[in-house]
Amino acid sequence: MRILLTGSSGWLGSVLAPRLRGLGNDVVGLDPVASGETQIVGSIADRDLVMDTVRQHRIEAIIHSGALHKPNIESHGNSAFVATNVQGTLNLLDAAVAAGVERFVFTSTTSLMISQAIREGFNGGARKAAWLTEQMSPEPRNIYGVTKLSAEHLCRLYHLQHGLPVVVLRTARFFPEADDMAHAIEQSDANTKANELLFRRLTMEDAAQAHVAALAKAPQLGFDIFIVCAPTPFRPQDCDALIRDAPSVVERYFPDFSSLYARRGWSMFASIDRVYDASRARDRLGFVCKTSFADVLAVLREEGAV
Ligand SMILES: NC(=O)c1ccc[n+]([C@@H]2O[C@H](COP(=O)([O-])OP(=O)(O)OC[C@H]3O[C@@H](n4cnc5c(N)ncnc54)[C@H](O)[C@@H]3O)[C@@H](O)[C@H]2O)c1
Repeated sequence: MRILLTGSSGWLGSVLAPRLRGLGNDVVGLDPVASGETQIVGSIADRDLVMDTVRQHRIEAIIHSGALHKPNIESHGNSAFVATNVQGTLNLLDAAVAAGVERFVFTSTTSLMISQAIREGFNGGARKAAWLTEQMSPEPRNIYGVTKLSAEHLCRLYHLQHGLPVVVLRTARFFPEADDMAHAIEQSDANTKANELLFRRLTMEDAAQAHVAALAKAPQLGFDIFIVCAPTPFRPQDCDALIRDAPSVVERYFPDFSSLYARRGWSMFASIDRVYDASRARDRLGFVCKTSFADVLAVLREEGAV
């Protein structure tokens, strides 16, 4: 397949592009930042560039991962977010329809489901963790979430009006973002990542693989939105206890976790404020992340056995 990949110089793009090529696809990377994975240095906000690129390269599929995202809020104004994340997405959708592109995958974010109230969590008075599925009505708390949600709506509209097959991946965190590491202050990076695999993280490899799965299934699905996150061991009935005393809930599912953690000098978050439920992706997309919290514990057990 001839694939246009936006955001090809970014973290995700630089893992995804070689993976797509390895599967026998021709990949055209487009990003304003030059890199080995980027053939076209330019912006998705440049409508003519986008239309020409899709037409001239006879693109059959688009994976749209290029964006201004949360760390960019510090350095970019609201207009830049709208130009890139909303107008840029619209340009790609128009180019897709004009050129008869057969599949479109949009990298969205679980962050758009986090309202101010959810974010404030236990200290803000929340009495239970939020159990988040694709059914909830998002109330994004920042320009990043607002523009990503707008882009999702454009994707839905273009499916409705033009029949373009689009899969939206609301991807959880796969890379630490310096502005949002409140928990990390007391925990090491590896400890934080391990904890987050319980409810809000996936590995970069899993994030890339989810895009491969979405690309394969887009024509069959028509339009769908999926949360993509490592599978959580928790259930909705755990939400009360998760916000008050997360370690006791983790202990119920993984009785030896605290001793394994203690050997490393690790600790669990005292409170967990949200859980992303990725079961729709499992059931409809047939995608489950390979790496989960249980795998981290398995490694810790092995280390202890040596
Ligand atoms: N990092 C995470 O944990 C996370 C979580 C959820 C969703 N996402 C989403 O995943 C995607 C990739 O993020 P990442 O973590 O690899 O971030 P990144 O910043 O490394 O990659 C984003 C890429 O988009 C490019 N870009 C910016 N403006 C552009 C424009 N006008 N035209 C084309 N490309 C442009 C950037 O240059 C960059 O290379 C983004 O859409 C982001 O919103 C990331």
